[in-house]
Amino acid sequence: MLEQKTGNTSWVSGLLEWFQTHRRDLPWRRDFPRDPYKVWVSEIMLQQTKVEAVKPYYDSWMDRFPTLESLAAASEDDVLRQWQGLGYYSRARNLHEAVQEVVASYGGHVPEQKKDVLALKGVGDYTAGAILSIAYGMPEAAVDGNVLRVFARLYNIDGNILSSAVKKQITACVEQCIPRDQAGVFNEALMDFGALVCIPKHPRCGECPLAASCLARKAGREQELPVRITKKKVPVEPVTVVMVEQNRKWLLHRRPPKGLLASMWEFPNAAGSGHEGIQAVQHLLANLGLDIAVDPLPVHTLKHVFSHKIWHMTVYIGHVTDGILTNKEDWQWLPCEDYASVPWAGPHGKLTAL
Ligand code: ADE
Repeated sequence: MLEQKTGNTSWVSGLLEWFQTHRRDLPWRRDFPRDPYKVWVSEIMLQQTKVEAVKPYYDSWMDRFPTLESLAAASEDDVLRQWQGLGYYSRARNLHEAVQEVVASYGGHVPEQKKDVLALKGVGDYTAGAILSIAYGMPEAAVDGNVLRVFARLYNIDGNILSSAVKKQITACVEQCIPRDQAGVFNEALMDFGALVCIPKHPRCGECPLAASCLARKAGREQELPVRITKKKVPVEPVTVVMVEQNRKWLLHRRPPKGLLASMWEFPNAAGSGHEGIQAVQHLLANLGLDIAVDPLPVHTLKHVFSHKIWHMTVYIGHVTDGILTNKEDWQWLPCEDYASVPWAGPHGKLTAL
């Protein structure tokens, strides 16, 4: 279906024309032909950082490390000092390591093969596409959030742009649109168009040179698109489990009849980890009339993923030091050989194999 939708690329010339007059004058766009090292540095700095924030860092970086070789020869301390304030310091460490690799393996020349560029530390699809197209004029797509938004609107694509399937479809579509002799200009034009006209939330359709070709606008959906569905972050809950043994039997608890894993059997446990978690289980069992000692080192750790939360379980062994079980309804002592006779509360069943 996308193939049909993306057949029309007549807007490309309009975009390039618009770019001639609206192109942003940015420090990393000054020299011609473009230096791949400079394109690379700017693209790494621009990851997760706004253009205005990057500008002064880029200039002072180029004063300090004007060539790829000068960066490769610098100490990590110098590199990090120069990056200080930009954040996400792994970007600087990776860049430093990668330029050293370029010196060692490619004589200081940024490789021109996509697979070689992609193999450099810190370089992903977007950055590789940007370097190859802007510095070497190769017809490679550079698809970031801006480009996904622009294409979702131009072609009225209502799939989730954060899904890999839609990203793949849009990347294929961008590749079809790239003018073979102006790949870098096209990618930069898309960046500026996304930043200045086809902006998030309220696109400036009144001044858009591509409005007549925009299928989202035709459908009245330009404000709705793109669709971005983020995966819900599920909370991680630490759980301390204490497997308590007495006379070759193990202490089990039946969960409440309502709620998560209702009425299933589990080993004694409580929310929390470490000393706090152990104390919580001891407290729970003390209320049942049992004093227990818990071995200090865990015997097992286990992660269990529900749709709405994740349990990080740490499992200890405990021994009764005093008392007898008072609640015989929701608790029981069960020998290992009878384990199969009870319904286990999900991850606790796995512990029976220990
Ligand atoms: N965002 C990411 N790369 C960019 C570039 N080269 N110019 C402007 N904005 C960008």
